[in-house]
Amino acid sequence: MRKRILIIVIVIIFLLMGSCIGFSLLQSPKVVLKKNTFSLYEEIETKEIISVQNGKLLKSEKIVTDKLGEGKLTVVVQDRWKRKKTYEFEITVEDTEKPTLTYKKEWTTEIGVKIDLLKDVKASDNSKEEIQVVVEGEYDFNKVGEYTIYYVAKDASGNEAREEAKLIVKEKKNTTSKPKVPSQTENKTFTTSKGFKGEIKNGVTYIDGLLIANKTYSLPSNYGNGLTDATVNAFNKMRDAAKKEGLNIYISSGFRSYNKQNTLYNNYVARDGKKEADTYSARPGHSEHQTGLAFDVNTISSAFDNTKEAKWLHQNCYKYGFILRYPKGKTNETGYIYESWHYRYVGEELASKLYNNGDWLTLETYFGITSEYSS
Ligand code: DAL
Ligand code: ZN
Repeated sequence: MRKRILIIVIVIIFLLMGSCIGFSLLQSPKVVLKKNTFSLYEEIETKEIISVQNGKLLKSEKIVTDKLGEGKLTVVVQDRWKRKKTYEFEITVEDTEKPTLTYKKEWTTEIGVKIDLLKDVKASDNSKEEIQVVVEGEYDFNKVGEYTIYYVAKDASGNEAREEAKLIVKEKKNTTSKPKVPSQTENKTFTTSKGFKGEIKNGVTYIDGLLIANKTYSLPSNYGNGLTDATVNAFNKMRDAAKKEGLNIYISSGFRSYNKQNTLYNNYVARDGKKEADTYSARPGHSEHQTGLAFDVNTISSAFDNTKEAKWLHQNCYKYGFILRYPKGKTNETGYIYESWHYRYVGEELASKLYNNGDWLTLETYFGITSEYSS
C-alpha cells in the first residue's frame, strides 16, 4: 500500500515537472518597447529601450533619429531555443529643441527714423529648416522712449525661442546740416563751402581777404571809426559821375558804431518785435555800417526803389567798386529784405563779378558762406 502511494506521488511530481518544462518551452519571448518618441538626432541604441523576457535581443543597433516624423523600429529577438523572431514597433522622431537666435540686444534711433529691427538677426535650428523670426512688442519710432521688444523664432515643430531686446528712440540731435561756423574768439583760418580761404583775425572775419559782417560773422564792439578812405573816395567818384547825369546821390547813413547800432536795433525791436526787426536791422556787432565800408544813400525806405538814382546806382555802382548788398529776392542768402539804398565797397574787381549783368550775386553765395544768427 505504502509503495503504491509513493509511486503515485512520484508520477504526480514528474507530471508537474513535465508540464512546467513544456509550458516554458511553449512560452515565446516578451518584447517591450520602453520609449517610442525620440528627439531629433538623439543618440540612443535599441538595447536601451527594448526589454526582453524569455529571450534576448540579438543585436543592439543605433536608432535612426535624423529624420523628423513617424517611422518603424525593427528588432530581432532570439528565444531560449535560439529561434529568431522579428518585432516591429512604431516610433516618432520629434524636434524638441528651440531655435537659437543671434540678435542685437539694444537698438538706438532718432525719433522718426525707422530702423530694420530684423537686420542681422539670425535664427538657426537643429531641424535645418528655415526659421521665420518676427519682432513683437509695443514700440513707436515716432515717440521718444525705451521699448522692450521680443525676437520670436518658431521652428516647424512649434518650438519657440523668445528673446528680449531694447529699442531706444531718442530726441532728434540738434545737429542740422548747416555748415559749422568757426568761433570768432580765436585767430584761425578755415575754408568756405566754395573753397575760399577764411581768416579770423582779432574777432574780424575775412573771406578771400575781404572783410565780412553779416548775421553769421560779427565784429568786435570796439571795431571801426568812420568810413574808410577807399570807401569815401570811391563814393565821391560815383556821386560825381551820377551828378553829370543830373542825379543827386548823397550818403544818409554812413559809419555806425556798435553802440549806435545797438540803440537803433533796440528801437526797432521795441517797435516791431525782434523777429521783424531782424529782417531789416542788424544786431549790434553784425552791421555792415560798423565796417566803415557801407552806407545808405538818399531815402532809406522802399520809396527809393524806383527812383532814377536807385536805378542808376543799381546798374553803375560796380564800376566804382560798390555792390548792391541786399538785392531783391535774396533774403535767404543775405538774411535781409531788399534794400535799394544800401551799398558796400568791395573793390572794382569783385564788384564787377557780383554785378552779374544786373542780376546781383550776394557775397554769401559767391563765397559760400551763411548769414544766420546762431541764436
Ligand atoms: N539795414 C542793415 C541790414 C543794417 O542794419 O546794417
Ligand atoms: Zn544800410
